[in-house]
Amino acid sequence: MNRSYKVTVIRGDGIGPEIVDEAIKVLDAVSHLKGFELKYDDALMGGIAYDVTGEPLPKETIEKAQSSDAILFGAIGGTQWDNLPRELRPETGLLSLRKALGVYANLRPVKVYDELVKASTLKEEVVKGVDLVVVRELIGGIYFGEPKGREEDRAYNTMVYSVPEIRRIAHVAFQTAMKRTKKVCSVDKANVLDVSQLWRDIVEEVAKEYPEVSLSHMYVDNAAMQLIRDPKQFDVILTGNIFGDILSDEASMLSGSIGLLPSASIGDKFGLYEPIHGSAPDISGMGIANPIATISSAAMMLKYALGEEEAAECIEWAIAQALKDGYRTKDMSQYDAKEVCSTSEIGSIIANYVGKCKK
Ligand code: IPM
Ligand code: MN
Repeated sequence: MNRSYKVTVIRGDGIGPEIVDEAIKVLDAVSHLKGFELKYDDALMGGIAYDVTGEPLPKETIEKAQSSDAILFGAIGGTQWDNLPRELRPETGLLSLRKALGVYANLRPVKVYDELVKASTLKEEVVKGVDLVVVRELIGGIYFGEPKGREEDRAYNTMVYSVPEIRRIAHVAFQTAMKRTKKVCSVDKANVLDVSQLWRDIVEEVAKEYPEVSLSHMYVDNAAMQLIRDPKQFDVILTGNIFGDILSDEASMLSGSIGLLPSASIGDKFGLYEPIHGSAPDISGMGIANPIATISSAAMMLKYALGEEEAAECIEWAIAQALKDGYRTKDMSQYDAKEVCSTSEIGSIIANYVGKCKK
């Protein structure tokens, strides 16, 4: 076997382990089909890492991640760790890993499956055919800005972006748009924030290098409204860290369930593949979590990190096929469900369809 890849697997907390197990089931099916090998190496992060090692991101995890071809990640967090000091919280583990890997571009595609149009809380004509991608800056902005701190009677964070940080994420957005319908909408709050005015100026400058792409700007409050009013007006949404976090959760509801949306966090060297949802501690261990976001993130990993495009397409095809045939986890079972499946049942069904993929 000549194609062999090393994948660091971070299951994390809550539903993380359950959904990652299903992604691996599907990856095994597709690697078998397409004749390549995936070597998995488990690593700890989040609350579980804190419980075992005393820190949310052990050094060993960073080293493993940096020496692999790609990293597949489930979810982190849970109420039992909520009262820890910030530097020990599970979320800090994830943020530090993103930073350590330099994964500055977070691609969050939102595609509404025809079969699930009715599962959305919005009207069919509004969501049918939605196909957009949020390009979220991931290792800067108010999440990481200095100074930050807490004093007796006040606390503060700083939203800061440098020109190179804006430039590189803008390039990702324009390059993404070149492969799609050549439309970028940059979302900011330039009517109030200086950091957003700089963002806008630099995005304009980068746009000159992509004359075929049409660029528009939108204030974030308006964008939140437009995403619900008429989501089909968007193709690539380019935005900063916190606006992208919020807008992508909002956009996930167009698809009917946040349990469907994958993401790829990409930098110059490494790639971290993660569902956009959290660890859902309220349903963890019940076998009802939707693994599709993670399975779909695994497909993004095959495509972007490993160059296994056909395998990625097979996974996407298998997911669509399972949905078409009426298989649903509980979160998307409101309409047209032929069978409501457990986490592991739907994983097996998708893996089974993968075996039939002709791509
Ligand atoms: C996400 C999550 C994370 C974020 C949290 C868990 C730190 O909400 O990936 O969207 O805010 O980036
Ligand atoms: Mn989020």
